[in-house]
Amino acid sequence: MAVLRALVLTVCLLCVYAPAPSSSSASSGYFLRCLSASIPSELVFTQSSASFTSVLASSIRNPRFSTPGTVRPLGIVTPTNASHVQAAVLCGRRHGIRVRVRSGGHDYEGLSYRSERPEAFAVVDLANLRSVRVNRARATAWVDSGATVGELYHAVAKRRPAFPAGLCPTIGVGGHFSGGGFGLLQRKYGIAVDHVIDAVLVDAQGRLLDKKAMGREVFWAIRGGGGESFGIVLSWRVRLVSVPPKVAAFIVPVSVNDGAVDVLTKWQEVGPALPDDLFIRVMVMNGVAIFQSLYLGTCDALLPVIRGRLPELGMNRSHCREMSWAESVLYVYVGSGQPIPVTDLLNRTFPMDSSNKATSDYVRQPIGRDVWAEIFAWLARPDPGIMILDPYGAQISAVPESATPYPHRGGVLYNIQYMNFWSAGNDEEPNVRWIRDLYAFMAPHVSKNPREAYFNYRDLDLGRNVVVGNVSSYEAGKVWGEKYFKGNYKRLALAKGKIDPDDYFRNEQSIPPLVRRS
Ligand SMILES: Cc1cc2nc3c(=O)[nH]c(=O)nc-3n(C[C@H](O)[C@H](O)[C@H](O)COP(=O)(O)OP(=O)(O)OC[C@H]3O[C@@H](n4cnc5c(N)ncnc54)[C@H](O)[C@@H]3O)c2cc1C
Ligand SMILES: *[C@@H]1O[C@H](CO)[C@@H](O)[C@H](O)[C@H]1NC(C)=O
Ligand SMILES: *[C@@H]1O[C@H](CO)[C@@H](O)[C@H](O)[C@H]1NC(C)=O
Ligand SMILES: *[C@@H]1O[C@H](CO)[C@@H](O)[C@H](O)[C@H]1NC(C)=O
Ligand SMILES: *[C@@H]1O[C@H](CO)[C@@H](O)[C@H](O)[C@H]1NC(C)=O
Repeated sequence: MAVLRALVLTVCLLCVYAPAPSSSSASSGYFLRCLSASIPSELVFTQSSASFTSVLASSIRNPRFSTPGTVRPLGIVTPTNASHVQAAVLCGRRHGIRVRVRSGGHDYEGLSYRSERPEAFAVVDLANLRSVRVNRARATAWVDSGATVGELYHAVAKRRPAFPAGLCPTIGVGGHFSGGGFGLLQRKYGIAVDHVIDAVLVDAQGRLLDKKAMGREVFWAIRGGGGESFGIVLSWRVRLVSVPPKVAAFIVPVSVNDGAVDVLTKWQEVGPALPDDLFIRVMVMNGVAIFQSLYLGTCDALLPVIRGRLPELGMNRSHCREMSWAESVLYVYVGSGQPIPVTDLLNRTFPMDSSNKATSDYVRQPIGRDVWAEIFAWLARPDPGIMILDPYGAQISAVPESATPYPHRGGVLYNIQYMNFWSAGNDEEPNVRWIRDLYAFMAPHVSKNPREAYFNYRDLDLGRNVVVGNVSSYEAGKVWGEKYFKGNYKRLALAKGKIDPDDYFRNEQSIPPLVRRS
């Protein structure tokens, strides 16, 4: 009885003081000593270090996971070269402490720096490993995982090449490429992982592997199969793409009173069928749909296309602005209608005044006009969020589903991202409930069997790993895994079984290992 009471008491203490590690503190101590012995002390931060909190916060991008109850790492390593990363993994293996890797820290569930359950873990933060080495003659570049996509764009755009990846300049290359990476050039050129031609990986045995050494299946898996699962990707070699010296961009808001429901209904079929050098996305919010566009050409060439295909938009010459491709990224992302200096691509600071929750869908059949009218009613409720619709078609949809782990290709009309925000520190319940209720409402109108979702818009509501015998369960992982990866889930699990059969690299939604018996 006494033992039982002590056990219950311990368990409850763990609930209240979430950060308490579940492994023995002895192994934590040995682990930290191992780190200090193999990595310069100025690159290792323990909870008792004076700068621990600021290093931890340096790339937290969602204040929702920066609270006293957040389960924090027992240590953070900020490597400046590959051997520090290898040493951190080897110390972790030796002393039974898992590491999580953080590049830009944008994970929607914060899994690169927090754990949902009390457990002892450490963070390998790659922010110091962020060089971009461009080979102009070959139109390729090596980019380190700790670089932001803004730093990548800034480095490649000095002459004409560009790179097709996400919009927000502060996103980290490491997490972004690990999950796919899409943005304004996706219709012309596909997504980031479609252009990755080599990579350097530290695996669960601490080995440093290039494309050839990691093997075909693992190289396939790291290109979109989800961060954390296969090891720590240190750098990526990418093929650059070309864009004209000037591109055209426009931002046209259409209010519900001015016919937003009709324009949106028509956009669903027009947007994915436009010429591949034209991309028009929509931000849908309370009372208004904002059409944001990038065109790889001039305003004079763009106007007749819009007048022919989507005259209801009411776009005219005064909405259109010509600029360099690098400028267009910020112009569309910030959306103020004002030009932004390209040096802002290098700004790694992220505003931290609001917390957020997001989730995603893919649409394969146009949604009816009456349903859009109902959606606008959802967006007019108290505590509403926004929806961002990114059009597919052209190149992103032409790549076969199994060419990379990212399977949402042919037949997709557009992706929906749902997001809700609230002031940091406020009660999240009404906003989170709004997004969950809208997600339930949308079920009949979006992709089914599976209901597809984008890994990089991570949502733990879709499911979590279940650990059986110290290894994440392949069967249980299907629940979320097939939403993110469709038929590629099994192949990812087999690749995981090859490179990390013990499931050392693990989080709440990492790929479980599947070991094929011969
Ligand atoms: C404001 C904002 C805007 C966004 N815009 C877009 C967009 O336009 N297009 C789009 O496609 N997505 C977008 N995203 C989603 C973004 O692509 C993902 O959140 C992405 O995973 C972020 O990468 P990160 O390195 O910043 O995140 P992190 O939190 O550092 O990492 C995310 C996940 O990947 C793992 N990971 C990180 N680095 C590595 C590595 N080197 N090796 C192996 N695993 C690693 C982490 O452990 C974690 O599980 C946006 C997100 C935010 C917050
Ligand atoms: C990495 O840095 C350490 C110093 O911490 C140095 O001894 C080592 O030679 C470096 N390794 C490489 C591959 O540059
Ligand atoms: C569980 O797996 C981890 C990582 O592979 C390992 O360090 C640990 O010793 C394992 N624990 C048990 C009880 O087998
Ligand atoms: C362009 O459209 C805007 C708003 O829709 C309108 O105010 C403006 O007068 C139009 N300009 C021209 C030249 O038609
Ligand atoms: C960088 O971005 C932050 C957040 O948006 C902003 O407050 C800051 O002024 C920017 N810094 C510079 C140098 O532009």
